[in-house]
Amino acid sequence: MAEPSSDWSLRTRCIHVGNEIDPATGAVVPPIHLASTFRQQRAGEWGEYDYSRSGNPTRTALQTTLASIEGGCGALAFGSGMAAIHAVTMLLQTGDHLLAGSDLYGGAYRLFHQICDRAGLGVSLVDMTDLDAVAAAIRPETKLIWAESIGNPRLSIPNLPELARLAGQCGAWLGVDNTFGTPALIRPLELGVDIVMHSATKYLGGHSDLVGGTLAVADPELYRRLYFIQNATGAILDPFSCFLVSRGLKTLDLRVRAQSQTALALALWLQEHPRVERVMYPGLSDHPGHAMATQLMGGHYGGMVTFQIAGDLAQTAKVCEATRLFHLAVSLGAVESLIEQPATMSHASYGAADRARFGITDGLIRLSVGLESFDDLRNDLQAAFTAAGL
Ligand SMILES: Cc1ncc(COP(=O)(O)O)c(C=O)c1O
Repeated sequence: MAEPSSDWSLRTRCIHVGNEIDPATGAVVPPIHLASTFRQQRAGEWGEYDYSRSGNPTRTALQTTLASIEGGCGALAFGSGMAAIHAVTMLLQTGDHLLAGSDLYGGAYRLFHQICDRAGLGVSLVDMTDLDAVAAAIRPETKLIWAESIGNPRLSIPNLPELARLAGQCGAWLGVDNTFGTPALIRPLELGVDIVMHSATKYLGGHSDLVGGTLAVADPELYRRLYFIQNATGAILDPFSCFLVSRGLKTLDLRVRAQSQTALALALWLQEHPRVERVMYPGLSDHPGHAMATQLMGGHYGGMVTFQIAGDLAQTAKVCEATRLFHLAVSLGAVESLIEQPATMSHASYGAADRARFGITDGLIRLSVGLESFDDLRNDLQAAFTAAGL
């Protein structure tokens, strides 16, 4: 087996880096190390591994792959995406200010407003696509700017290189949730971002069969601080889930490209539908982030599509409940397509006023496009519109 090569493509790294042949057996898939503890040579002398919260070979394998595909110096695998975001917020201290994007996953909104504020952090939200508004919202005590590479649920696209410049000017870290974007489409560390985060539950795992989160960074000192937080607080990903993420990563690039193509075709079809008022998909030329997405993501726009129907909360729920192939479920990024109503599901933890303020309307529907065929998914949606009387 060749040594990892710096010119390997992302697809090759996903398969080979961190997945080296097992020297003991020649197995082409590394074994899963379930041991919680490791025998030491002498009291007080630590080897590479001593206790699985501090380090585990299966977690190391996954983290090696992740660091390589993100372009980072190191990565950390957590028990969930929320645990990964929480670890980042633990870099801050009482009195610091966290400035987050207003197109934000509901769980992050809840963490910031109901946990971080109790720890004495100031929290405010701003439209990350409006650089003047971001500059105006930065305070002397701003220590973390948190954005999503593709916002949730409106699929807004921030200018990450410019945000990195603003964060650098004020001495804050820029953290980016790249769950919707995936390293297959966008690698924020290469754009000057300090911390990239994923809910590995979604595209990285890709099969709706694990919950996990990841962080990757380019600065060794920042890595050391985050590793300390993870080891001290303990929110690690278990070995079997690490294995599942490693396995999912091998097909990440193929999956995301195929899902992006089907999502674009569905977005174009929805745009022409008489009962659809508005489609939000960065691949559509009328999306406000289309040019930025094309620049940053090179012609693929991801597998998430959000649209607004001409109907109230109940009718919207009926559409979501009537599909057969699109499962009515939160989460996203897997091989099976999912449908949900942000106002009552993924973004239910927003206060009503913030939902209204940030455009999370009653008629909004969010799709996670899987790997089924376009024709089957389109027919499924049409049948659901008909069943809902639209
Ligand atoms: C964009 C985004 N970030 C973070 C999370 C949280 O990840 P997890 O559910 O793995 O804790 C989610 C979950 O839906 C998400 O969609």
